[in-house]
Amino acid sequence: MNWVIGIALLAIVGYLLDREIYFYEGVHLGPRVQAWLYDRWARKYDEGKRESQQRDDEMLAQPLLDALRGVPTPFVLDFATGTGRLSYALTSRPEFNGHIVALDLSQGMLEQAAAKLAGLAEGCVEFLRRQSLPLPFPDASFDAVCALEVLELFPSMEEPLAEFARVLRPGGILLTSRGTEESGRRAKVKSEAVFRSLLEAKGFENVQIAKWWKLFDRVLAVKAGRSEPVKHRSLAEALKCPACREIRWEAAPGALRCEGCGKSLPVTEQGIVLG
Ligand SMILES: C[S@@+](CC[C@H](N)C(=O)[O-])C[C@H]1O[C@@H](n2cnc3c(N)ncnc32)[C@H](O)[C@@H]1O
Ligand SMILES: [Zn+2]
Repeated sequence: MNWVIGIALLAIVGYLLDREIYFYEGVHLGPRVQAWLYDRWARKYDEGKRESQQRDDEMLAQPLLDALRGVPTPFVLDFATGTGRLSYALTSRPEFNGHIVALDLSQGMLEQAAAKLAGLAEGCVEFLRRQSLPLPFPDASFDAVCALEVLELFPSMEEPLAEFARVLRPGGILLTSRGTEESGRRAKVKSEAVFRSLLEAKGFENVQIAKWWKLFDRVLAVKAGRSEPVKHRSLAEALKCPACREIRWEAAPGALRCEGCGKSLPVTEQGIVLG
């Protein structure tokens, strides 16, 4: 009889692990486990997304460029950049003259993004590995924040949405996504009405939800208010030192060094700042 109980327990543990890893993508296991999982999935990630990525220019880059018309050198946060699909789509457009901070918790995903973007718009995308919120930037640091296919990976969407609103300047653009009912992942899906009211509660207006692909709708919104474009041209102009909170960086060999307190953030061979 004991062996029956043993097998039943193993089956239950297996089911729970499978659900935590493949359904929830590590969301309840903490950022280190999430990073470890995505590091493992990184090389194969694009294979599963090819079909939707073929429309990135039309569905992501063009609407974002339209929304940023009048901002000559947009400063963009590509939060959870993954393999860099949004950064790639934007920098592939000759009229894009801005600068992108591509952030992710997985170094493996960032390495794929860096390889994809190598040689394209040299120096206009910088990579930052960061494993937790809050975001290491002052209020109103960016003209646009993009966060695609990631909100469902937080235990609650409240915290990331509040952070996106904080680091966007008034009048700045949010480009994000909503998991669809069609995805079959009901436990993660917010209805259009609930998603819209979540954004509005965080100070976004003009929320536009459009069909994108089977698993996600595309969402564009504007942070209420108006302000001048940000005009930053590099990560070093926006990144707060994790030790002294100052923004005074100098480039040192293989590192960014804080001139305020001397703290160094390693920079990998692929140019990823380990923040
Ligand atoms: C489904 S992928 C989406 C990647 C990309 N945005 C795209 O649309 O292809 C989710 C990404 O979110 C990243 N991620 C998950 N939680 C994160 C967090 N708290 N901070 C930063 N990145 C996170 C993962 O490492 C992964 O690269
Ligand atoms: Zn410092």
